[in-house]
Amino acid sequence: MRLFENITQLIGHTPLVRLRTGIPPNGPRAYVKLEFFNPTGSLKDRMTLHIIKKAFREGRLKPGDTVIDNTSGNTGSALAMVATLFGLKAILVTPVKTSQEKIDLIKSYGAEVIITPEVNHDDPESFYAVARRLALEKGYFDLDQYHNQDNIEAHYLTTGPEIWEDTDGQVTHFVAGIGTGGTFSGAARFLKEKNPAIKAIAVDPEGSIFAEYIKSNREVVASNYKVEGIGSDVVTKALDRQVVDDVITVSDRDSFNRARLIARTEGISGGGSSGSVAFAMERIAAELGPEALIVGIFGDAGIRYLSKCYNDTWMQKNGFMPVFNEKVTK
Ligand SMILES: Cc1ncc(COP(=O)(O)O)c(C=O)c1O
Repeated sequence: MRLFENITQLIGHTPLVRLRTGIPPNGPRAYVKLEFFNPTGSLKDRMTLHIIKKAFREGRLKPGDTVIDNTSGNTGSALAMVATLFGLKAILVTPVKTSQEKIDLIKSYGAEVIITPEVNHDDPESFYAVARRLALEKGYFDLDQYHNQDNIEAHYLTTGPEIWEDTDGQVTHFVAGIGTGGTFSGAARFLKEKNPAIKAIAVDPEGSIFAEYIKSNREVVASNYKVEGIGSDVVTKALDRQVVDDVITVSDRDSFNRARLIARTEGISGGGSSGSVAFAMERIAAELGPEALIVGIFGDAGIRYLSKCYNDTWMQKNGFMPVFNEKVTK
């Protein structure tokens, strides 16, 4: 028998699938960890379950309490799903650029959604500031994914070990986008403890502040970018700079076109940030031989972005329409 008592038992143990697009045939082996196999379709299920379970264990949460966080969408559905199982009420604060599919998904789990304008973190109207203020004023449990060290711990305990075990310890390069930094930091910390020679390479969107912060410790002003889930306009405590060996910046255009290309060539439909990771993997692979084994994180699925990067009109309107312009409709 293979029976599960509740949906959270299906979180994690996501598959590693070979990636060939952009990887030289005689070059390294490259695999992507498909986090859209998690129940709500993203890597955020891991962090949310871990933080909520730990808070219950330590008596910081009880049924009937309200939990809140800011989200670019994926944490929202993850928290909303976990909250229903633990008898909690969930409130998610998200910026206006979040796709309608993601907002509707959060609501489908019974959570409340507050939409805020597209402004920087320090603005009192930002999704970040509104979540902190409501938590403080109303006494809600603040998931605080940007700074919560249990976000890192979730990936140290699950994502990292899974990559190590599934590659029989052969992984040489780990590549992930950084939004809060939790996934990257937790998995990289675990992998480097196992083998300090493993290189951990972070992926940051053009316009985000992380790359400059990692390289030169400077906090620059962010500019707008369209890729969702990765990048930030503020330094986060869930990013452990000690475990970053390098950071690669990828543009919206390259991210979206790469995600579309991989869907059409390999049948793996990731979100825009999966395109960013795959594009960075190509750059890394170009420098490596067949002895290397690269693992990249695909954070969520393309189905979440049908009105965005998988929509030709949206791509054209934003000036991202692919060089690769297929007219045939199958
Ligand atoms: C959709 C999505 N969200 C978030 C992230 C980043 O996760 P974290 O917030 O743990 O840095 C990624 C990383 O690839 C992602 O693809």
